[in-house]
Amino acid sequence: MTTPIEKKYIASRSKSEEKFKSAQSLFPNGVTHDARMMSPFPYYISHSEGSKKWDIDGNEYVDYKSGHGSMLLGHAHPEIVKVVSETVAKGSLPGASTELEVAWGKAIQDLVSSAEKIRFTSSGTEADMMGMRIMRAYTGKNKIVKFEHHFHGWSDCASATGGSDDNWEYGVPQQILDTMIVIQPNDISILENLLNKDDDIAGVMLEPTGAHMGLHPIRQSFLKELRQLCTDRGLVLMFDEVVTGFRVAKGGAEEYMGVTPDISSWAKILGGGMPGGCVTGKAEFMDIIEKASGSKGIYHPGTFNANPISAAAGATALSIVKNSNVNEIAAKRGQKLVDGLNGVLSKLEIPGLAYGQDSLVHFKLGVDADSVEDIITMTKEEEAKAYDGSVHHQLGLSLLNQGVDTWSAARFIMMASHTEDDVNKTVSAMENAFIEARDQGSI
Ligand SMILES: Cc1ncc(COP(=O)(O)O)c(C=O)c1O
Repeated sequence: MTTPIEKKYIASRSKSEEKFKSAQSLFPNGVTHDARMMSPFPYYISHSEGSKKWDIDGNEYVDYKSGHGSMLLGHAHPEIVKVVSETVAKGSLPGASTELEVAWGKAIQDLVSSAEKIRFTSSGTEADMMGMRIMRAYTGKNKIVKFEHHFHGWSDCASATGGSDDNWEYGVPQQILDTMIVIQPNDISILENLLNKDDDIAGVMLEPTGAHMGLHPIRQSFLKELRQLCTDRGLVLMFDEVVTGFRVAKGGAEEYMGVTPDISSWAKILGGGMPGGCVTGKAEFMDIIEKASGSKGIYHPGTFNANPISAAAGATALSIVKNSNVNEIAAKRGQKLVDGLNGVLSKLEIPGLAYGQDSLVHFKLGVDADSVEDIITMTKEEEAKAYDGSVHHQLGLSLLNQGVDTWSAARFIMMASHTEDDVNKTVSAMENAFIEARDQGSI
């Protein structure tokens, strides 16, 4: 049965509905990224600027998808548009070294204290693959520890879930899954016990503020214990800073959490809205990529590595991060949104909590939680009370109908271009969304 919220969505998006019909015969599920699958059909965006984007039916949205977290500066930032236009006119891929790649590398070093050396890739997935290769080559060991729900792209190794999600592991050889060990975070004894039984572990990788952009938060004390244990036992510690990098602090989560990894992967904000990733780290680890006569080095080609357009956009974006208060603005707006969303929950007596690392806002509904610590210590029984995907879907569609685009009303990624008015509009839209969802019996 089509709900009233869905009817409204369909009624004002006839061009998108039509476009989706063509897309279905072109792409599996009609989309080009799994997270863009959407029922009854996705909306098609024509352009975006600042905190807003517009679809082909003329609907305007305050955007909290934020280019999957890449667009800290906002859409079509004038300085990025200028530098990309100028650079593309000079030829987009010379297949040779450029001054721009050196400028991009220096811009990273200016912000990230652990970045003694850098190697560029074209995406976060590739950067994570490179990071795992470094861990294995450096230690001569095969296995890598990752944490439940932590996301490191879609390579074979990164797709291991320890058997908890068949979908993710579908198509990945068992031999590869056997080289990945997936454990619970926030309890160092689990890793200690593992290390006592297994001497083939090369390193540990994690999202340093917690899985899914901090949805399942990591305690700072755990990160410190992890750092110590890796040092004591000769394991390589890798932070996946693909989302947190240049966002939670100018220098990433290593600055925000006060813990220094051996190597890190970066993407998203790194490329200023263009595709790009990199691995950074202490020279001791990164030099494993170097080829010297008589010694081996990790093989690393990649047609678009440090391509001029990404390098120009990335270096410009990082210099804006360095020289302005974009992180603080996005964090301030995030805090205002958290306060507003929690206010709506109290007013409507809906259980749940809005929380996050400043500019990454999560909205967990249906659970009894008053603090981040309640989220960390939540039992499986309590977790099971959380509103499921179908409720979030209706809430997300209602927000879209009101001109607010979120990750299904569960995640809001802030940009420095969000205004206080954007946030006020979002909080009111969220209140209406709950009321509409209640009226149609979804919650
Ligand atoms: C923490 C994390 N690591 C890695 C990736 C993969 O990056 P990409 O999509 O650039 O391949 C993502 C993507 O969302 C991510 O959130």
